[in-house]
Amino acid sequence: MVLKDSCGRPLLNLRVAITQRCNLRCEYCHKEGEDRLSNDFADEMSVAEIVRIVRIAAGLGISHVKLTGGEPLMRKDILEIVKNIAAIRGLADLSMTTNGVMLSSLARELHASGLKRVNISLPTLNGEVYKKLTGGRVGDVWEGIKAAVDAGFNPVKLNMVILKNMNDSDVLEMVDFARNTGTILQLIELEPINIGKPYYSEYHKGLDEYEVMLRQKALKVETRRFMQSRHIYHLSDVTVEVVHPIENTDFCLRCTRLRVTSDGKLKSCLMRSDNLVDILTPMRNGASDKELVELFELVNRRRHPYYNKN
Ligand code: 5AD
Ligand code: SF4
Repeated sequence: MVLKDSCGRPLLNLRVAITQRCNLRCEYCHKEGEDRLSNDFADEMSVAEIVRIVRIAAGLGISHVKLTGGEPLMRKDILEIVKNIAAIRGLADLSMTTNGVMLSSLARELHASGLKRVNISLPTLNGEVYKKLTGGRVGDVWEGIKAAVDAGFNPVKLNMVILKNMNDSDVLEMVDFARNTGTILQLIELEPINIGKPYYSEYHKGLDEYEVMLRQKALKVETRRFMQSRHIYHLSDVTVEVVHPIENTDFCLRCTRLRVTSDGKLKSCLMRSDNLVDILTPMRNGASDKELVELFELVNRRRHPYYNKN
């Protein structure tokens, strides 16, 4: 069984923010659409609570789970979270989005615990630009990427958010880096969430020019239907994906995602915070599995394509 919304979009993916804490301060961070990013543990879900939510989701046909944040590796109990989710029946995929700074020492154990894939945020290879954008050291991320590939994660994807006049001329260098490290490069369009209008208008850039360039270089181009119709360019010895969500009706039409915020609310769309469904409070008040299933059904009814043709 798979839940579908009123537009027939199946619900297949769950993105669970397991903390709001982060060891970086990326200027462009959308905070997974949460309206605040605090360094507070207080509202975080316990391992048991996270696992229970994912188990209910798996029972409803959700097969792909991604751990996000904040920075997921900030949680001291991250291995326990991964192990317990990996043991849930019915899941086809368990992955994580991380900034990679703390990955080098954890990659092997994460892989052994059942994590299958990682996405590592890397906006630039230039140490100074990286420092300015994130506050961190790019060398730490390189170590993390190397460790992830060595640990056997496959694929390892590099998330590069494109920022006009900041890193937009680094794309070819990043393609080479992906080729040399055996990773997949994802070019991501800046999304106007939690970053303020002036920042967005200064740094947002459409990705069409990269699509044209990649199409010329590609041996093969693919469109992945259940990955928001994104384009995947197979170049010689390297793959580049282009994630272009803004004003993209096809992107929304193909969305199969649901989010869980770090404080335990089901979120139907990255762009919306006005129709959340609190699942943590009922859980803490003793709700049965059946009642939790009903909350998933409720939030599923609230799923609508954000950028809509009509
Ligand atoms: N727009 C698009 N992508 C973003 N990310 C963070 N902030 C934004 C934004 N404003 C990316 C990060 C991370 C992933 C979860 O989202 O690069 O890899
Ligand atoms: Fe946000 Fe990720 Fe940067 Fe942390 S590493 S500030 S969560 S984009």
